Amino acid sequence: MVKRYNHWKYNHWKLEKDGDDILWCHLDKSNSSTNILSAEVLKEFGDIIEAIEKELPRGLIILSDKDNGFIAGADVLEFTKLDGKDEALDVIQNVHGLFNSLEKLSCQTLCLINGFCLGGGLELALACRYRIALDGPGTRLGLPEVLLGIHPGFGGTVRFIRVSGVMQAMPLMLAGRNLDAREAKKLGLVDRVVPERQFKNAARSLILNRPPQKLPGALNKLVNVSFVRTILAKIFRHQLEKRVKQQHYPAPFALVDLWRKYGGSKKRMLEQEAKSVADLITSETSKNLVRVFLLQEQLKSIGNEQDFKPKRIHVIGAGVMGGDIATWCVFKGYQVTLQDRAPEFIAPVIKRAYSLFKKRLKLPYRITAAMDSLAPDISGRGIEKADIIIEAIVENTEAKVALFKEIEARASADALLATNTSSIRLDDISKHLRDPKRLVGIHFFNPVAKMQLVEVVHSQNTAQDWINKASVFCRKIDRLPLLVKSSPGFLVNRILTPYLLVAVELFEEGIPVSTIDKVAEDFGMPMGPVKLADTVGLDICLSVASNMAKAIDVKIPVKLQQMVDAGNLGKKTGKGFYEYKKGKAMKPASGAYDVDLTVLEDRLILRILNESVACLREQVVADADSLDAGMIFGTGFAPFRGGPMHYAKNRGYSELVNRLIELQLVYGDKYTPDHGWKLLTGEDD
Ligand code: NAI
Repeated sequence: MVKRYNHWKYNHWKLEKDGDDILWCHLDKSNSSTNILSAEVLKEFGDIIEAIEKELPRGLIILSDKDNGFIAGADVLEFTKLDGKDEALDVIQNVHGLFNSLEKLSCQTLCLINGFCLGGGLELALACRYRIALDGPGTRLGLPEVLLGIHPGFGGTVRFIRVSGVMQAMPLMLAGRNLDAREAKKLGLVDRVVPERQFKNAARSLILNRPPQKLPGALNKLVNVSFVRTILAKIFRHQLEKRVKQQHYPAPFALVDLWRKYGGSKKRMLEQEAKSVADLITSETSKNLVRVFLLQEQLKSIGNEQDFKPKRIHVIGAGVMGGDIATWCVFKGYQVTLQDRAPEFIAPVIKRAYSLFKKRLKLPYRITAAMDSLAPDISGRGIEKADIIIEAIVENTEAKVALFKEIEARASADALLATNTSSIRLDDISKHLRDPKRLVGIHFFNPVAKMQLVEVVHSQNTAQDWINKASVFCRKIDRLPLLVKSSPGFLVNRILTPYLLVAVELFEEGIPVSTIDKVAEDFGMPMGPVKLADTVGLDICLSVASNMAKAIDVKIPVKLQQMVDAGNLGKKTGKGFYEYKKGKAMKPASGAYDVDLTVLEDRLILRILNESVACLREQVVADADSLDAGMIFGTGFAPFRGGPMHYAKNRGYSELVNRLIELQLVYGDKYTPDHGWKLLTGEDD
């Protein structure tokens, strides 16, 4: 240990020097489970770099003392406190200065990367001469800033392109996609990928032997020439426009423009990167996307504190849902037994599971291990050993009651009993149990591997302890738990169904499906409501809507019933409102139709808002933030708008109520403003 560093006290960093004159700089952010680059962490790092400049060691190795990762990025909460563009620019320029100083150090510099190394964390690593990544499934590197409505802002746009080449770096930054260690090595983003036992020695060896840095070849210089940048930028823009709209998500477009204009000069691109991010970070889109990120963190924290360590999971019903739930649990490392009435119901699941594992786990030994963890279990012997039992059989109350009576008799007293029902009231099942407090709804969405949200459903009779355990389980399988009250359609289907039904009514009025869908997509929905109904399956839409119609005021459009009766169930049968070829919707012939698109948008979106307000009034979820989170992660509701309730607040409650009254006069009672609006506008106390 060298004295100079030793008597400096840091809150978040620990310094030690070894016999080779290498300074090991450990980041362990205090009072935090994760390393992030907060203002304080960066300030201390700045002091360290200053000290190093005065007394250069032979090498500097930056590493994390947290098991979960290197650095997860900048402190997103600090984004929300920025007071305008000037302050944002000031903050960003300070970090630029710091990373430039790190880059300019004349000693060897290296980052040891374990777990996640994202955003600002990777930008810091890119300012070092070498990077070594730990070989393992947890290692993830990337610059996901566009997901927060900005682009990399701590020099990452310049340095990523420099080490990996624009053709590799740009698409990754534009999509905000992460890489595993081996992919990162292929792109030159890291110099070595090593197992844990060689981690520190590999770092020492690079510092002592100083191999030359590998940078992309001459082709990369060529594509950075001004006229080539202009051509390539057009291609990047064109590809982007297929995925997102610039008015909704300006950040990736700004990144392309930044490179097109300034990619020829490191200095100018760095200066302009800072300015561009200062503009973006204070935009409405970025504020809303940061909100979405924080809502996600909120959901993630729901199951954090509990001490529940399930090992074995038993799933009953190997259909669409049960099969996928079982597969997902195995993928997440659990031993799963899967029960159905006969082996032929389970066989297709084994096939489906194999393709998921092959795609995601890649290595044969991992695929085999996963396949071994999924055991068909016709007799249901797994019930006795399971820590969690999930029922996903047909949507029929008597069948579920009979099954749960059997489960309760056989399961261990500590096992969590869960149903995946999408419409049956929890109490209608649990009242037949010896211990009604025990049943929880764990409502997954289809497809399970894609949909992050899971509704954790409870009734007044459900005990908190079981709700907590269900939430912990959701987090353990990397899903986001949303606590919802057992009421018709819970939250997501309750709000989504009336919106889908309006879309069918619009179709009945003669409005082309492409027009209806375009209006919703232009608003920011990931998929229009008609295509969504086709994708979910019109039979499922009809069944959910019929169940809800018993409890709330929704009318089933005749056309929907007719389509189901004719066996045109949507994408799965090749024909619904659209025709499908090889799973892709064909463009329908759209006749000219004169319609006011703003009215059309309001008829769709205000139906969502009105039902959202009703859900809040009925306390289906705890608050507006939970509702927004549920709709964003359960349906993809325009994330850049921050969720339905956030959108309603921005647009103005009174304006919306007036608009609803106008719609009600023309289009009927489904637009009658819910009583809950009065609670929001303060007209009711
Ligand atoms: P499915 O019809 O595809 O599968 C049901 C499976 O349960 C069949 O394989 C059947 O053989 C089996 N089964 C029926 N009775 C059984 C019993 N007594 N013991 C063992 N196995 C039995 O149904 P799906 O679509 O997977 O739905 C299952 C549950 O999930 C339902 O409660 C549904 O409401 C809910 N759900 C469905 C969603 C969807 O998009 N399909 C989405 C979310 C929830």
